[in-house]
Amino acid sequence: MKTYSLNSQVKLFRFGNPVRTDSLSYSEETMELQPEPLEIPFFIESHEEKSVTLKGRLKKTDKVLGLGESVGSVNKRGRWIESYATDDPIHTPDKSSLYGAHNYLFITGDEHHGFYIDFPGKVIYDIGYHHPDEIEIKIEGMDFDLYHFKHDSLKSTIKLFRRLQGEGYVPPKWAFGNQQSRWSYETADIVREVADTMRKKGLPCDAIYLDIDYMEDYKNFTVDETRFPDFGKFVDEMKTDGFRLIPIIDAGVKVEKNYQVYEEGVANHYFCKDEKDEAFLAAVWPGWVHFPDFQLPEVRKWFGNKYEILTDFGIEGFWNDMNEPAIFYTEEKMKAFTEKVKSLEGKNLDLQEYFELNRCYEALTGDEKDYKNMFQKMDGQMISHHQIHNLYGYNMTRAAAEGLRELAPNKRHLLFSRSSYTGMGRYAGLWTGDNHSWWEHILLMLKMMPALNMGGFMYVGADIGGFGGDTNASLLIRWSQASILTPLYRNHSAKYTRSQEPYAFDEKTTDTMRKVLELRYSLIPYIYSEYMKATLNQDLYFKLLSFEYEDDHSKEIEDQLLVGESVMIAPVYEENAKGRYVWVPEEMLLWKTVTNHQDEFQVVSKGHHYMHLEMDETSLFVRKNKMIILAEPARNVDSMDFSALTVLAFVEDTATYYYYDDDGESMDYKANKANGIMIKVTLVKDHYEIDVSQIGESKVRRLNLMMANVKGELVEYGYDVKNQQII
Ligand code: GLC
Repeated sequence: MKTYSLNSQVKLFRFGNPVRTDSLSYSEETMELQPEPLEIPFFIESHEEKSVTLKGRLKKTDKVLGLGESVGSVNKRGRWIESYATDDPIHTPDKSSLYGAHNYLFITGDEHHGFYIDFPGKVIYDIGYHHPDEIEIKIEGMDFDLYHFKHDSLKSTIKLFRRLQGEGYVPPKWAFGNQQSRWSYETADIVREVADTMRKKGLPCDAIYLDIDYMEDYKNFTVDETRFPDFGKFVDEMKTDGFRLIPIIDAGVKVEKNYQVYEEGVANHYFCKDEKDEAFLAAVWPGWVHFPDFQLPEVRKWFGNKYEILTDFGIEGFWNDMNEPAIFYTEEKMKAFTEKVKSLEGKNLDLQEYFELNRCYEALTGDEKDYKNMFQKMDGQMISHHQIHNLYGYNMTRAAAEGLRELAPNKRHLLFSRSSYTGMGRYAGLWTGDNHSWWEHILLMLKMMPALNMGGFMYVGADIGGFGGDTNASLLIRWSQASILTPLYRNHSAKYTRSQEPYAFDEKTTDTMRKVLELRYSLIPYIYSEYMKATLNQDLYFKLLSFEYEDDHSKEIEDQLLVGESVMIAPVYEENAKGRYVWVPEEMLLWKTVTNHQDEFQVVSKGHHYMHLEMDETSLFVRKNKMIILAEPARNVDSMDFSALTVLAFVEDTATYYYYDDDGESMDYKANKANGIMIKVTLVKDHYEIDVSQIGESKVRRLNLMMANVKGELVEYGYDVKNQQII
């Protein structure tokens, strides 16, 4: 092991000769080799024949945060987690792996330590699962990088890690609007009907998704011409109506003679191999597929350039799926299974035989053995996919991002992926995959969001309403309310489930959903401003209360979050609940929107409160001396007027806010081409002094300032930004 100092707060412990994952983006030139190897803080290491184990003792007050996409609490104590990307659609509390592999963790108590294990094979975390006070991490390999971050607060320790990743992914502004999906809207006419109904019912929406059925026989980069005739014209028609269409791209390439992507892949040896050096064969949606070897730069370039086939039709966004990669079965496994079934035909099975049959069936899908038998090329040599399994979805998405960048260097695209590895947050967002229409999954979403942000995944969200199973009106409403500030806001559901579009229930539900979606659109200036600031400054958009408040309650709460610098959310996520208990860590302004009523504002004192919240009410808490920026909702983001904004401020003495905005579509933000405003509101005795300065060429002309003081007195001023005066 060699040790390096990256700076006084970041150390790198290099074991053997690690695979280059490019998950971090610092320059190796800044690394300073230490003359003597340093000791790894917190952990004691032991080496086995093919693995390394790190063991540490947790103090009673230590919390273990991070590990991105995984079930359970934000504090991972008591958990067994396996970092091994898995296509498992049943996210029950006992699951140890989901789609992403996020090897970062922060141990925080009297001291704050951050660790990142850059290793693309399997890593197993026993975080007090076998022994409550011990943490044990087993890295199934001898070659990896272990980073240690140390600072005097948890927030700054996380920031050290985020900084090493570099700049995060920035989607176009319209991607913060409401998005409607389903597996699948199978024909252009069905898509039209969804679009028309959204508009007729006054439900704002920016995008409609095309799931696998838009393709011809599930072949990537094809469009079924019977179901989607004249696709380019259809894309245009939808855009005129204010909708972007977002097609899915899967990892597997269908095996079919004369299908160009397949033919090119075979001719150029672009696919992963089996032991016989033939293209590895597995079954997914299209039947037999080959998987592109995304480890190779030339394959990434080839696949990434294929997105042009769809961008040429006017497509501006994609979701990459099945990229763990998901395997339904292999030839060998199917053979073993069918033989098993045949051997049992007509038999009265005993318990043992019945379980064996079950095991044989379960082994068909996503089995580690299959990943071990698949091979990828690295540095001219074939290595088992298993060793670099966790990089697959990340490299597919990197291919897409780089391809799109090459096609249109100054244009932002919407892009997110199901599988991911740390570092993918630079290229794209992620969605949390196949959740269920379960109340528990609203809470799971809330807990995952801050954990994902810690690892640089900023454009994140869950399938609103739940993917698997049937939702109902109240679950959809509560979920839509709880997601009101998630950057990715998409309602998506599985085949054979009940329809769950916002208009799919009774009129009252549609009315409530309209109000919720209008609130979402009103909040877009705040969401965008906070997303951009957090992403560009490597900060968190979702924070636990403990990141800002030091009281004992705030340290423990995981079902309320701070979102951006000014808002706390405390969503209702329980069935039939007419409200919930909320811990208010300082005096705040509670803002409730109610269907068909005036909004309500109430100053809430520090302490525990029961917040009543009927189904048609959505709540947000504005923090003291903070403000949020709102706009008039419209049918989509492109039609919103960002020149006349409302500022809702809760002022005790002085509140300042930097409202970030930019063109929302180009890469000019990289050159700091912001065009926002800086607002300062000071309460002097019984009147407010307002100071607004422009940043860049701000679009904002007029502000409607709504200011509440701690007595709950609300006043409204109009403000002319150009002439800097109250009107
Ligand atoms: C996977 C995805 C899901 C999609 C389905 C069909 O299950 O996670 O979102 O709808 O495949 O493409």
